[in-house]
Amino acid sequence: MAEFERVVCASEEVQERGKSVKFPIPEFGERKNGFVVRYNGRIYGYVNQCAHVPVELDWNEGDFFDITNQFLICATHGAQYNPETGYCVLGPCKGKRLMPLKMKEHDGKIYLYLN
Ligand code: FES
Repeated sequence: MAEFERVVCASEEVQERGKSVKFPIPEFGERKNGFVVRYNGRIYGYVNQCAHVPVELDWNEGDFFDITNQFLICATHGAQYNPETGYCVLGPCKGKRLMPLKMKEHDGKIYLYLN
């Protein structure tokens, strides 16, 4: 099947180490969401599901960064993830990884790519 793109939000909605945007990805299952964050100017997208237990990560709608703004954090048991790689660096799922999503940013918008 050919790859297709879908606009998820405007670029300015995703703030550097700040507010992120969640979006539905029904192709991954009912009520599955992805999210996109900005870290050192680049965007990174992941399926919004902890590598430990399949719950959503954000502690408040769209809040994924920890207090240091260095890591993504799971609100349930505190796993910390590297925003650039999705690898868990601390917590019960250390060494496991968030499922990455292919995302690109151009013309002031952020796109999700799916097969
Ligand atoms: S459910 Fe996320 S750290 Fe346990």
